[in-house]
Amino acid sequence: MTNPIFGADYYPEHWSTERWPIDAKLMQQAGINTVRLAEFAWSRLEPKEGFFDFAWLDEVIEIFMAHGIRVILGTPTAGPPAWLISEHPEILPVNEDGQRAGFGMRRHYCPTQPAFHTATRRIVEAIAEHYHQHPAVFAWQIDNESGHIANGNRCHCSSCRTAFQQWLQQRYGSLERLNSEWGTVFWSQEYTAWDQIPAPLRNGGPGRIGSAHNPGLYLDFARFTSDSWVRYQRLQGSILRERCPQHQITHNLMGLFPYVDYVALAKDLDIVSWDNYPRLPSIFSTGGLSVNRVAMAHDLMRSLKGRTFWMMEQQAGPSGWGVLSPTPLPGEIRLWTLQCVAHGAEGIVYFRWRTCRVGTEQYWHGILPHDGNPGKRYEEVHRTGEDLERLGTLLTASLPAEVAILRSYDVLWALEAQPTAEGLSYDDQISRYYRTLWRRNRAVDVVTEDLPWESYKLLIAPCLFVVRSDLPARLRSWVEAGGTLVLTFRSGVKDENNQVVDLPLPGRLRDLAGVRVVDYTALLPVGGGDPHGGSESLEFLIDGMSHLVGADIWMDELEVNGAEVLARYRGEPFEGAPAVTIHHVGAGHVIYVGTSLDDVGQNLFMEKVLTVAKVTPGVPSPDNVEIVRRVHDGIDHWFVLNHNTSAQEVTLPSSGIDLLSGKVISGPVVVNGRDALVVRSNANVD
Ligand code: GLA
Ligand code: ZN
Repeated sequence: MTNPIFGADYYPEHWSTERWPIDAKLMQQAGINTVRLAEFAWSRLEPKEGFFDFAWLDEVIEIFMAHGIRVILGTPTAGPPAWLISEHPEILPVNEDGQRAGFGMRRHYCPTQPAFHTATRRIVEAIAEHYHQHPAVFAWQIDNESGHIANGNRCHCSSCRTAFQQWLQQRYGSLERLNSEWGTVFWSQEYTAWDQIPAPLRNGGPGRIGSAHNPGLYLDFARFTSDSWVRYQRLQGSILRERCPQHQITHNLMGLFPYVDYVALAKDLDIVSWDNYPRLPSIFSTGGLSVNRVAMAHDLMRSLKGRTFWMMEQQAGPSGWGVLSPTPLPGEIRLWTLQCVAHGAEGIVYFRWRTCRVGTEQYWHGILPHDGNPGKRYEEVHRTGEDLERLGTLLTASLPAEVAILRSYDVLWALEAQPTAEGLSYDDQISRYYRTLWRRNRAVDVVTEDLPWESYKLLIAPCLFVVRSDLPARLRSWVEAGGTLVLTFRSGVKDENNQVVDLPLPGRLRDLAGVRVVDYTALLPVGGGDPHGGSESLEFLIDGMSHLVGADIWMDELEVNGAEVLARYRGEPFEGAPAVTIHHVGAGHVIYVGTSLDDVGQNLFMEKVLTVAKVTPGVPSPDNVEIVRRVHDGIDHWFVLNHNTSAQEVTLPSSGIDLLSGKVISGPVVVNGRDALVVRSNANVD
């Protein structure tokens, strides 16, 4: 591939044919070289069953080609047309309340319905056949944001239920085994035939869908659902691979989206791409998407295949359906783009080219406003494209990380069913550790049990609630060889069937941690009137100095069995008991944190951990100034991203040249608010 992808999501079907050449020309003038097309255009591509119309798409692609713009084609399966649904209403998904979706949204399909598989094959084969040799088409996006359904989180229809029963049969072999692994004797839930097993509908009243169910069943249903999406993607992927072997295949993922195991989904793709809306109020997370949450999502996306990725929808304006997000501030479209690149995006596609005048997304603003006239956002995108050109092949440089955070899908789903403590969010716990590392400008990979983590110096595994059977031995041999492992409260609680282990906690990780949990308590969220927890809940003793810090969410009362104490509780209910410990194991260390530390505590703790693990120091920076190191051709490059409104000063480890401005950088340098530097060091990496 020649130029890096710099593109826009374009919907020719939303505009008149006369407008197409105007848009293509404006794009070309802004340096746009790629469009993603057609991912919702099923009704125009196959207006009647088996009757295809590619003429309009051919025409618009010709126009783009004439303007030097290449094409990523979306398979249009996220928008099943009305004719298909009226013929096969069973395609409509059934949510956790047992309600079937009505027509009128998107993603109104079930991934296991045979009728939908037939319809999918028909349209994907036709579009692949038509474009397999087209000179402008170089990649495919399968479906669009797979994993959720129009009216809920998972499909519970009869097809899914039957497929779930078959999936269980494969996994457990016999009902006897399933009954025992799930513990169905509880409340007389023993199954005597496979077809008795339900898809877990909402029981137990609002908000209690997960906790009312058998935890084994609930976790398996989450695994099964994730698997259904992986299989559905594979159905399309195999058609595309066969017909278009020279094209790249991707799918647009959603960062921290919790309902699909993205490692499994990414396996079948050539490259991961994802949709990033930094200014959108909380989608899948509590507390909104802060700059470091976005960074963490990028790091997860990069870690899925251990390589660079594409942005398939990067926010280019205020966004929202019924209600708008605040608009990106001047400079933010560019800054966010540079943040994507810093964390591993080698291609950028903005959502969307022009703000739509019709449909659900009238408020989801694109680069151009409704009236189609280029304005501030267009100028900023143009300028950003020029910046990316200046970076050239740096976009594909490696991003070596010495630290990884384990974010397990099993844990996400098990805690979804049983959140365990008010205010306990797995992603929030992960973020607390991520954020402390991010502030220190340490590169972090975000991995799962299925990705290799043995090469890291430090592995942080917050709330490792569900422990797969092979994991303790794997962790032990890595620690013995010199790794530093951080475990926290709620670790080792469950086996892989979501049963509580019959061991003192942290269960099968106890020997490794060198501690035993003798008692524990959930805490009310800060401000919730809990007499425990709060601002001076524990005391760290570091280098003979005492530091009082706060804790919330949970407290484990620890007894040390070989570990040393790093911090003790102060006050009720566990006055004087160990709260944070370190255990020397072979050439490595296991650190156990029995509670959820406040910011001050996290910072103190992290300094200690980074020293123990001998992680290379990051470049210091003021608050909200991110410095990401990339190594390219044996030379250090630093992305310096100032997310503040005000100018900030940084000093890099060596002098160099800012590739964006061409200026020589030496000694302390001031970076303007919402501005960035990309400095190529004058010194070679040692
Ligand atoms: C997702 C989709 C886009 C668009 C945006 C806004 O990211 O992939 O098609 O609909 O949401 O809703
Ligand atoms: Zn279904």
